[in-house]
Amino acid sequence: MAIQLGDTASDFTADTTEGRLSLHDYLGSSWGLLFSHPADFTPVCTTELGEFARRKEDFDRRNVKLIGVSVDPVESHRRWSDDIAETQGTGLNYPLVGDEDHSVADLYGMIHPNALETATVRTVFVIGPDKKVKLTLTYPANVGRNVEEILRVIDALQLSANHSVSTPVNWRDGDEVIISPALSDEEARARFPKGFRSLKPYLRLTPQPNR
Ligand code: BEZ
Repeated sequence: MAIQLGDTASDFTADTTEGRLSLHDYLGSSWGLLFSHPADFTPVCTTELGEFARRKEDFDRRNVKLIGVSVDPVESHRRWSDDIAETQGTGLNYPLVGDEDHSVADLYGMIHPNALETATVRTVFVIGPDKKVKLTLTYPANVGRNVEEILRVIDALQLSANHSVSTPVNWRDGDEVIISPALSDEEARARFPKGFRSLKPYLRLTPQPNR
C-alpha cells in the first residue's frame, strides 16, 4: 500500500554519495526531506538537484536534512555532481542513494510503472522529527519541482506543529494564520496575545505567532 500521511517513514540502510547510512540515524532529531528523481545526466533532474544543493542553507535553517534517491549507481551520482556544479553553480552537498536494486524505491512506492517503467518518478516525503510522514508530493518526469514551494510547506508544517494554527490558501511566511476551531475564543485570546479577527466562528485569523 502507498505510504500515507502519518505513517512512520520506513527505515533503510543504503549506499550513498556520503557513504553507507541508515535513514533514521541520518535524520536523528531533525526533520527530513526524502526525494527521488528519475535519472542522472538528464536535464530537468540536473536543474532540480542543483537547486536543492543551492538552497541547502535554507533547509539547514529549518533543521531539515536532505536525502535523494534514484536507481543509478553511487559512482554515476558522483560523476553527475560535477555537471550539476558546472551548470547549476553548486554540486551535490547532501547524500544521494544509489538504489540499483530498487529496495528504497519499492519501500516508498517511488516507481510508478504506468508513468516511468523502471525509474523513480519525482517524489517528495517530508518527515517530522517523530519520523512520521508529514507531506507527500509526486511529480512526473517532465515537470520540475519548485523548491520555494517545498520550503513554504515546510514553514507551514513547522508552524502548525508548534502552535495550534493552520495556514490558509496561498499562505506565505509572515501572513496571518488560522486559529484551530477546537479552541474557544477565550482560549484563543489567551494563546494569541496579538489578538485575532473573526470572519466566522470557525474562521479566525491571527498574526503569525512566531514573529
Ligand atoms: C529529465 O530530467 O529531464 C528527465 C528524466 C527522465 C525522463 C524524462 C526527463
